[in-house]
Amino acid sequence: MRALLCKDYGGIDALVLEEAAPPALKPGEVRLKVQACGVNFPDTLIVEGKYQFKPEPPFSPGGEVAGIVTELGEGVEEAGGVAVGDPVIAVTIWGGFAEEIAVPAAQLLPYPAAMDPAVAAGFAMTYGTAMHALTQRARLDEGETLLVLGAAGGVGLAAVEIGKRLGARVIAAASTPEKLEVARRAGADDGIDYSARPLKDAVKDLTGGRGADVVFDPVGGDLTEQALRATGWGGRHLIVGFAAGAIPKIPANLTLLKGCSVVGVFWGDFVKREPAANRANFDTLFRWVAEGALKPLVSERFALADAGQALHRLADRKAVGKLVVDLSR
Ligand SMILES: NC(=O)c1ccc[n+]([C@@H]2O[C@H](COP(=O)([O-])OP(=O)(O)OC[C@H]3O[C@@H](n4cnc5c(N)ncnc54)[C@H](OP(=O)(O)O)[C@@H]3O)[C@@H](O)[C@H]2O)c1
Repeated sequence: MRALLCKDYGGIDALVLEEAAPPALKPGEVRLKVQACGVNFPDTLIVEGKYQFKPEPPFSPGGEVAGIVTELGEGVEEAGGVAVGDPVIAVTIWGGFAEEIAVPAAQLLPYPAAMDPAVAAGFAMTYGTAMHALTQRARLDEGETLLVLGAAGGVGLAAVEIGKRLGARVIAAASTPEKLEVARRAGADDGIDYSARPLKDAVKDLTGGRGADVVFDPVGGDLTEQALRATGWGGRHLIVGFAAGAIPKIPANLTLLKGCSVVGVFWGDFVKREPAANRANFDTLFRWVAEGALKPLVSERFALADAGQALHRLADRKAVGKLVVDLSR
């Protein structure tokens, strides 16, 4: 099979496309023919050995796939629930930039037959994270104000759509007018260009001085403290990620003064610890897709040989919505 390999943690430009042996199938695993692989920010870190998981090289990056089941490992048929030919999605953390991948059967999620495989490939990580963050972690209520940072990025844009479906007023915040336009088309009520004016002032202006009820923060860096200062009484500031690079330190007195909470979000562990709740989230998400309430945006598709270009676009802050490596190209 063809695979894009990271051989020495040399970063994006050191990835090489090669013929590789198909992965061995362990008991409890299934083999997938990869249709498409979603591109996510952690992919840019894992190829430099800077992510929380450090697979032994050589390995393929690519953390979430849509694929067709081609072979069942020992014990899978007896356990039931999956058959050869099923279209499924799986979050694999790495291994997806390849024509085949072996995945534990327990991690598979069937995706609706009507869904484009490229859309399915980019759906799990972003929508799964945003749904968990806004429901289980923030308990976002109808009528509340949700501020989304990095609102045209992968998880950000998913948060905009889910926030609207949950009945919130959504304020999108991003670094360019073009990105804000993407968030508006996804349903955001208002937009703030945080490269043009201070975030806190803009949020206060838009909320009559009250501040946001919930902040969805996948960006980190200097924006986190600004967003916390723009959080209202009883608010919830969701710590989702640090795409800006720096892990912020927060003045703890702000939480006291606002009676607000800083709430961590770790979707990957939620999936392992509360699988039934995660499946229920996806039942709801797929229903919302079928109803047309969610319209996942795949803005660019790349051939396997060009997956490095996709990683550069993400690392260079150029991506909107999802970038996907499409194995049919
Ligand atoms: N906690 C969890 O369970 C979980 C799950 C999935 C992802 N994450 C994390 O969420 C973050 C976003 O992931 P994603 O896949 O949505 O990434 P993405 O599509 O690249 O979006 C990240 C956004 O961050 C903003 N940003 C600010 N400074 C940046 C920089 N120096 N480089 C790149 N982007 C920058 C960009 O928006 P502007 O240009 O508008 O500022 C960009 O759209 C990552 O840190 C990821 O690890 C966490």
